[in-house]
Amino acid sequence: LLINAGQLVTVAGNSDHPKRGDELSEIAVITDGAVAARDGVIAAVGTTSELQDRVELEEDAVVIDAQGKVVLPGLVDPHTHVVFAGSREHELEMKIQGMPYLEILARGGGILDTVRSTREASCEDLVRTAAKYLDEMLAQGTTTAEAKSGYGLTLKDELKMLEAIRVLQETQPVDLVPTFLGAHAIPEEYKDDPDGFVDLVIQEMLPAISPLGLARFCDVFCEEGVFSVEQTRRILLEAKRLGFELKIHADEMVTLGGAELAAELGATSADHLMMISDQGIEMLAASETIAVLLPATTFCVMGERYAPARKMIEKGAAVALSSDFNPGSSPVNSLQIVMGIACRQLKMTPAEVISAVTINAAHAIGCASSVGSIEEGKRADLVIFDAQDYRYLMYRFGTNLVDKVVKSGRIVVG
Ligand code: NIG
Ligand code: FE
Repeated sequence: LLINAGQLVTVAGNSDHPKRGDELSEIAVITDGAVAARDGVIAAVGTTSELQDRVELEEDAVVIDAQGKVVLPGLVDPHTHVVFAGSREHELEMKIQGMPYLEILARGGGILDTVRSTREASCEDLVRTAAKYLDEMLAQGTTTAEAKSGYGLTLKDELKMLEAIRVLQETQPVDLVPTFLGAHAIPEEYKDDPDGFVDLVIQEMLPAISPLGLARFCDVFCEEGVFSVEQTRRILLEAKRLGFELKIHADEMVTLGGAELAAELGATSADHLMMISDQGIEMLAASETIAVLLPATTFCVMGERYAPARKMIEKGAAVALSSDFNPGSSPVNSLQIVMGIACRQLKMTPAEVISAVTINAAHAIGCASSVGSIEEGKRADLVIFDAQDYRYLMYRFGTNLVDKVVKSGRIVVG
């Protein structure tokens, strides 16, 4: 496969570490760039004329003329709840009237609403609906995504969700990284005994799930009225002992210290962070933990405060972006929309945004050695956009600008 691009945005550089500070703006654009792939892997990157000399095309080679277009690494969405049943459009009126997200949950709605529908669904039902959402994501440029459980909240139903993710990984093109989120909400049957549910996660769910290899990460929704910092620490310490890598839904609605806990435990990422404290920013900046920001969620829950991205970048935290796609707080699965919001509300520059949805997003799910940049030896996951300049991707807002998507060297969209 050979692609000749108007602008080839490689985001190449040091894939060993996530980008921080000024590095976020270094996205290594090659004007009149070209990329060649063989057997699904990137074989050569350079200018069109360099590759003309260097690459010998095989007879059956596919050549794509993307002159006048922008080519990016396949986008990586490092925080999604793409597997679920039902939907929650009935919450929109409540939110418009000013009812906070956490109050809808406290009244048995929100996440618990989706738990009821997901418990009723079969694994096949979950696979069928998620496949449709993943198709939409692929069509908009996402080639790798994290996928969480967390709407089962019993061992049986959490396993059903993780099994759905496993089937999806084998049957559709978007690469999935599975996360166990058994501690996503206190289920109704444990309403009066939240610590009993924490014990259930620790004593029954984690030990049963760990040997099956169905989840790489373990995540907890650390939030006022959901799981406290102490409960989160207990769950994640046990998860770490069992070999899971860690994530935290941290400081989303209330400043609780989830970011500090993520840094303390060596979590791979701390996600949301709308209400992160200054100490949390300092601790993330001094750690390897990635700050995954989800501005489409802030937009959809009509939050007053977006995550302080500029301050985090200035202090040296490694920032990534994600859709948080889920039926409640972010029914948005387009990273292009997230990118447009990130520029306008997080005040991130287009170049910073590109690093945040490619290489840093890959770091946030432990995949940076194989995806997230256009470099020799990495998987040939590439997106061609109908745009002449990468900044146009954020400037135009709400239209899918994808022309073609290449996954492992094959055209899967366009
Ligand atoms: O990341 N905040 C907790 N979990 C999800 C929302 C899940 C839902 O509302 O169904 C989030 O925003
Ligand atoms: Fe989430």
